[in-house]
Amino acid sequence: MRSIDRGGPLAPGLLVKPYTWQMLVLGIESSCDETGVALVDTAGKDVPRLLSHALYSQIDMHQAYGGVVPELASRDHIRRVLPLTQEVMKQAQRSLAQVDVIAYTRGPGLAGALLVGAGVACSLAAALAKPVMGVHHLEGHLLSPFLSADPPEFPFVALLVSGGHTQLMRVDRVGSYQLLGETIDDAAGEAFDKSAKLMGLPYPGGPHLSKLAQQGDGAAFKLPRPLLHSGNLDFSFAGLKTAVLTQAKKLGPELESRKADLAASTQAAIVEVLVKKSLSAMTQTGLQRLVVAGGVGANALLRSQLNAACQNRGIRVHYPELDFCTDNGAMIALAAGMRLQAGLETLQHGYTFDVKPRWDLAALQPELADAR
Ligand code: KG4
Ligand code: ZN
Repeated sequence: MRSIDRGGPLAPGLLVKPYTWQMLVLGIESSCDETGVALVDTAGKDVPRLLSHALYSQIDMHQAYGGVVPELASRDHIRRVLPLTQEVMKQAQRSLAQVDVIAYTRGPGLAGALLVGAGVACSLAAALAKPVMGVHHLEGHLLSPFLSADPPEFPFVALLVSGGHTQLMRVDRVGSYQLLGETIDDAAGEAFDKSAKLMGLPYPGGPHLSKLAQQGDGAAFKLPRPLLHSGNLDFSFAGLKTAVLTQAKKLGPELESRKADLAASTQAAIVEVLVKKSLSAMTQTGLQRLVVAGGVGANALLRSQLNAACQNRGIRVHYPELDFCTDNGAMIALAAGMRLQAGLETLQHGYTFDVKPRWDLAALQPELADAR
């Protein structure tokens, strides 16, 4: 049996050898409304290889409430996480005894939901006498394009666009994340979700709004592009939602027949800001590679506009596979594997755990946290 603890005798809390040439890493994601589990195999410095992954989305359950109900999310994670783990081990034809490290999402996210993943990861690890590792959810998103057939090379600028975050980061290597700009209020995903809700579309609004937008005219309504010319790399989307509400009220009974136009105009406003700010970040850093990650990275208009704008400037854009844009376990196992390979983790056999519902990615590298 391969083991990372060949280095010496172990006692609870004792540091173990940081990385051996090959390890099996199990990753568990439970920060919001998706339970994801995956297994990766690391070998030397190669990008960890995904052996298997499984996902259960709670979207149907939350749809009735128009958004995520945290207590229901936690309870459902409890139901799903072990069967998904069994499924992943079976798919990969490996046993839990062969796993070397168990990684889980430590934050940011919903506290109760995170506690399920952390609790299960630590219990499994304790039962198997394996080390555990807490992973930053956004580091998982940011590294997820490394799972694609066309992985990026460092350094790059990352546009992180999820339901809770909109950030531009400079990434020089694994673990080196410098914040260039971020939203001062709502995230891009939130702008999609809240605008969609105002239009009576189901949760989660992003994919529904973008589907409806295909039948509409993006120039039909003049909506604000907040902070577009602010001169910095910060974003603001809260005003957009108010403008959508005002427009919807103005339309009154006409809204139903103009909904596709309003959806297309909303999407056009969000995408234009994301594209322009990303290009400014490329100019500011002088870098030639852009990575787009997080749920909004699945948006087709964002992808096509970024591709066109970047092609003109000789910039390469990398995206995660569509399956790995939204939350999943593969990105957590991958991030854990890459951090181990980079020598950033000293694994411990200690099973007390905490979660970090609020956690800055830049804080992973303390000396850069204040560099902005
Ligand atoms: O990364 P993610 O799965 O979860 C968080 O970490 O927040 O992102 C979810 C967000 C939601 O706001 C959802 O509406 C949005 O990503 N989203 C999209 C699309 N697919 C997911 N937004 C726009 N267009 C899409 N195709
Ligand atoms: Zn996420």
